[in-house]
Amino acid sequence: MYSVSIIVTLLLATLTELTEARQQHSKGQSTPFYTNSKHIFELSASNFNDYVYGSNYTTLVEFYAPWCGYCQKLRPDFEAASKEGHHYAQFAAINCDEQHNKAFCHEQGITGFPTLITYRPPKTFLENKQRSQQFAVQPYENDRSSSGIINAMKGQVKGFTKKVTKKNLDKLFTSYKEISSSPKVVFFTDSNQVSPMYKSLAIDYITNIEFFHVLNPNGEYLEMAKKYLSPEFENSEKLQVPILMVLDPVNDEIVVYDGELKKNHISKFLTKFGTPNDGDFSERAEIIKGIKEGSYKSFKDYRKKKSKAAKAAKAAKTNEQAEPKLVKDEL
Ligand SMILES: *[C@@H]1O[C@H](CO)[C@@H](O)[C@H](O)[C@H]1NC(C)=O
Repeated sequence: MYSVSIIVTLLLATLTELTEARQQHSKGQSTPFYTNSKHIFELSASNFNDYVYGSNYTTLVEFYAPWCGYCQKLRPDFEAASKEGHHYAQFAAINCDEQHNKAFCHEQGITGFPTLITYRPPKTFLENKQRSQQFAVQPYENDRSSSGIINAMKGQVKGFTKKVTKKNLDKLFTSYKEISSSPKVVFFTDSNQVSPMYKSLAIDYITNIEFFHVLNPNGEYLEMAKKYLSPEFENSEKLQVPILMVLDPVNDEIVVYDGELKKNHISKFLTKFGTPNDGDFSERAEIIKGIKEGSYKSFKDYRKKKSKAAKAAKAAKTNEQAEPKLVKDEL
């Protein structure tokens, strides 16, 4: 009898503890981790598709629950990784403890926290197939330290830049206006690989600027290129690899970039030549920021508001034009 009552008491104590813990979770401890992180997007079921499948970058998604110890342990590393890593991949998280996300996390087959999953786009999308179905969905099983995550994501950047050989370098520089009307960036790199940074620039400007690379060129290549530059470069020591140029068909000139070879510096410079589809200077970045700050509920909401504003602007314009006519009719 005696021992049974002890067991019952113990059980009750445990139950009470559990309930208290639960209550705590549903209060403070359920707060999402990353609402204030600049480079991690807190997803919900309603914006998952637009965010993940709307990009040409791989997205690394952390499925988590705020009360889980391993999630709390991963948090600073994930956060740190996103600071540099957001140049090479999208970083997102979804709070599976949130009531309205639960079913979605379940559908995604999440059974433990944290679970990291990569959603990787194909090199080219097939028109006749649903976009989301063309992504490779894989658990992230690499190193979970911040540098491990950054390196893994650097390896996932799709390559859209084209190689320039000695044979076609002359052609590119002489007929860039005829080849197409888009500006062309040519990067002479001192490496024998295209860097993830350069690849990511090509993704950011994918529909508006074409990207080319010349790997590890010997002097010959630069001598060839020099012929097409303005006279100031003719005997110039300035022209050393790595060097980046823009062949601009609109202003009919070749511009040599002389800023720092860092992504945001180059990207900012390139906004003079084309509009980015993605990355820090794009409309997409504005939308994501707007959702984070609560100005829009979702991508859809943004599109709705934008088209409404455009319609209103158009209506205002027509009214302006219509008004004098009305006055005239009255007279
Ligand atoms: C993704 O790439 C396609 C071209 O393959 C382009 O039309 C689309 O705008 C890109 N999306 C983003 C967000 O950059």
